[in-house]
Amino acid sequence: MKRRHFIKKSASTFVVVAGALVAVSYLRQFFPRLAGEKRRVAIGAPRQFPVDTYTYIDEHNFYVYRDHEGIKAVSAVCTHLGCILEKSTDGFECPCHGSCYNNNGEVLSGPAPRNLPWYQVSRAADGKIVVDPGKIVGAEDKFLTS
Ligand code: FES
Repeated sequence: MKRRHFIKKSASTFVVVAGALVAVSYLRQFFPRLAGEKRRVAIGAPRQFPVDTYTYIDEHNFYVYRDHEGIKAVSAVCTHLGCILEKSTDGFECPCHGSCYNNNGEVLSGPAPRNLPWYQVSRAADGKIVVDPGKIVGAEDKFLTS
């Protein structure tokens, strides 16, 4: 292989690889934090969660809600660009661009493009509550504890 041909081929390979890396970085912003959210998470015994309260599980970016019937879990990641939502009196607010959601995770005002996902909740053999962010359920679905 001639030197000139080698340099030309190396330069074009570099441009293709650099372009692919830039494209992947750009596209990642549309799928924020998904990789870390997919694992099943044991969050503890039901009694650790006060009734009629949303408890933020900060290591996994979701809220757990418990009422007198059971427990359910909703993502705390804004569907706009992935900021962590703060609990307000009657829903969730995004500190980044102002999206608001009600307590069912439904978008009340944008720019959030879609509702918050609710995650499947179950109980492990040891009695701990387990949240599975890889399994999306309806906002009305809850794991019955009573
Ligand atoms: S990231 Fe929440 S509104 Fe933009």
